[in-house]
Amino acid sequence: MKKTFPEVVYLNGEWLRQEHATISVFDRGFIFGDGLYEVIPFYSGKFFLKDAHLNRLRYGLNQVHIDFDVSRLEPVLEEAVTKVKLGEQDGAVYIQITRGVAPRTHYYPENVTPTILVYAFPVALKGFDKRFVDVLITEDYRWHRCDIKATSLIANVAMNDEAIKNGFHETILHRQGVITEGSHSSIFFVVNNEVYTHPEGHYILPGITRKAVIDLCKKLDVVIHEDPLKIDQLSEVDEVFLTGTTTQILGVKSMIMNGEVCFKKQEAGEITKRLQHAFIALTAQ
Ligand code: PDD
Repeated sequence: MKKTFPEVVYLNGEWLRQEHATISVFDRGFIFGDGLYEVIPFYSGKFFLKDAHLNRLRYGLNQVHIDFDVSRLEPVLEEAVTKVKLGEQDGAVYIQITRGVAPRTHYYPENVTPTILVYAFPVALKGFDKRFVDVLITEDYRWHRCDIKATSLIANVAMNDEAIKNGFHETILHRQGVITEGSHSSIFFVVNNEVYTHPEGHYILPGITRKAVIDLCKKLDVVIHEDPLKIDQLSEVDEVFLTGTTTQILGVKSMIMNGEVCFKKQEAGEITKRLQHAFIALTAQ
């Protein structure tokens, strides 16, 4: 799908044509990347796991002391879907909250009003279960608070670009050999019919889809471990899949590090397929 700008966006209390929506060059989101974001999906016009996304946003705002009442977004989210005239289609809403406009200081300025941006956009959410992707592995050189969904994503962007430029779908990250997550997705491994994913904490984003998949494993009686996996254990791994809001559950065909194949399969595994089917049923509810 060709990427285009949304026609209208919500900025600080009003809906505007995107070309008329402007912010100050002194917005701290622009100057410092001092802001947070969320991406909430909707299936056939209906939000999926909206409260979990809004709670993660609340958590992040608290962590960086941006004072904004997230519940104020609820009506805006509903408007976003209708404004974009997607009707019964699939898509997502992007939310960005920055600390606001203030003279440049490294400390948090006082009495600043946060800048709020919201818009909806279409996403082709169907058919993810038919895809099977190749990924790169590289060192995770992000900061140590990956649990905060900050807009300052230069490391993630650089890492993802390396994958895309080289014909891969995603870059998977490791810290001293321990696999953490993807540049914009969570990662799961299946070993002897049991599922593994990196535990929550400061080194990964607590993915909302990740949590939904953990819950699905429990429902399907698949043993799930929130334990990390090391690169040198990849030879014992039977299945790998990625999860994320727009990624959903995506089977991984191969994992390459420094030109060497660390994992390779011909087709998505049974547990990946079971979880994909259960996920499709969940999003259709
Ligand atoms: N990315 N890890 C990282 C670093 C992410 O950026 C994302 C999501 C995930 C998956 O989280 P969730 O299941 O809540 O989407 C994991 C979003 C979609 C983005 O940056 O556009």
